[in-house]
Amino acid sequence: MNGILDINLQDFFYIVSAALFVFGLKMMQKSESARKGNLISAIGMLVAVITALLGSQILNWQWILLGLAIGSLIGALSSRLVAMTAMPEMVALFNGFGGMASLLVSWSAFHQLYTSGELATSPWNQMVIISLTLLIGGVTFTGSLIAWGKLSGKLTTRPVLFPGQNIVNFLILLALLTAILYLGPLQGVLLNYQNGILSPYSIFIIIMVLSGILGILSVIPIGGGDMPVVISLLNSYSGMAACAAGFVISNNVLIVSGALVGSSGIILTNIMCKAMNRSLTNVLFSGFGAASTGKRKNKDQQGEVKALSVEDAYYLLEAAASVVIVPGYGMAVAQAQHIVQEIAQLLEENGAEVDFAIHPVAGRMPGHMNVLLAEAKVPYDKLREMDDINPRIDQVDVAVVIGANDVVNPAARTDKDSPLYGMPVINVEKAKTVIVLKRSMNTGFAGIDNPLFYMDNTRMLFGDAKATLQALVSELKSK
Ligand code: TAP
Repeated sequence: MNGILDINLQDFFYIVSAALFVFGLKMMQKSESARKGNLISAIGMLVAVITALLGSQILNWQWILLGLAIGSLIGALSSRLVAMTAMPEMVALFNGFGGMASLLVSWSAFHQLYTSGELATSPWNQMVIISLTLLIGGVTFTGSLIAWGKLSGKLTTRPVLFPGQNIVNFLILLALLTAILYLGPLQGVLLNYQNGILSPYSIFIIIMVLSGILGILSVIPIGGGDMPVVISLLNSYSGMAACAAGFVISNNVLIVSGALVGSSGIILTNIMCKAMNRSLTNVLFSGFGAASTGKRKNKDQQGEVKALSVEDAYYLLEAAASVVIVPGYGMAVAQAQHIVQEIAQLLEENGAEVDFAIHPVAGRMPGHMNVLLAEAKVPYDKLREMDDINPRIDQVDVAVVIGANDVVNPAARTDKDSPLYGMPVINVEKAKTVIVLKRSMNTGFAGIDNPLFYMDNTRMLFGDAKATLQALVSELKSK
């Protein structure tokens, strides 16, 4: 059935929007072009939505306009009100809604076939697609809600493990695949398809419920530090669910955009796992941090902590010819990015060469530090990747670690028993002097103590990063 738009014209506009998605994604590879890329992708989505609306026989515009108004309001408010540190949980919620939308598309397609009496005669591959959409959508919805609960602190952030967990998950998956087979290729073979106790509709509801349970059980064993990886994976699932939903309603642009989200989500998951030196199976099934007490001591912890005053930090920085700033999650918590930029500028005016060293998993989401520093207008060419800084860090006079912990933990290189062992880190301890800004001796997200804090060339500058840097700026300006 076609509406206002002719079918060829509709496909033409779908190709235009798909091309805009691809160009947008490409531009998101670089910080300089990321904003434009986002805008171009959003325009692509607008073209797709308008084309879909004009190409369909819309019976009732009121509901669509109401949905559009409510959705736009929620989107605009959340983009203004949600703090940057709460972005990962917002992404989790959005993934969940994407999963729910695909689930509803599948349900409505199934219901239509059922009520029209076409179910028994519909091709088995169509039933498989409808069921898979339901399965992936259901897992994504409940899994994302659990991820949102964990990230927002409404549920425990620690991994929840019980004996035989993986076996239970496997059995549920097996039951789900059997049910899909029954609805699809085996319809009518195993049982009295239309009138048996297990009617097609009850099988469909069973798939929905079991998918929801599988989503919950797959995410509860995953621990705090690994949650961003799970968010990225769920993002990929939501794309796959949308892609499957595209097949259900024969919408090409939904298939293309779902496939783009699904594949970019899985690529991002892979990048994050690599940066943490973990495999995806290790993240999904190991319950990372379950045994941790939150303050694990390193076995070779030696030396004493040397605290520093703001004034002493000023003298060290004032005399430095080269400074490397290493931001971490604490900079995001303190919202210190603007004052960090001001310090960098003052040090440069004082004749120092200042660089920012960015670890790929610093903070709590990919590109977290890049986004914050871009917001503070730190020039892009000042941001250096870990592999760029590490080979020359021994020539740096002062490394200033601002609210980073795990990403500068030398135990990742030296202590084979450390859970961080093997994760590439920024080797700040090789700089002549290291100044660490944090509030206490507390551990970072991985719950691992950091030998860097006890080293001879490390000085701890305790306090909230923003307040400390403000005091430092006053010193730099007054002397
Ligand atoms: P963390 O290791 O989590 O350390 C952050 C430090 O910031 C804490 O030790 C905390 O110490 C300090 N802090 C918190 N609030 C502060 C404030 N207001 N002022 C000053 N300091 C403050 O952070 P990181 O080094 O950025 O490492 C990121 C971690 O997240 C890694 O374990 C990484 O594997 C994990 N992770 C990240 C991602 C992505 S994509 N970014 C993905 C998966 C996992 P105090 O409490 O003593 O102040």
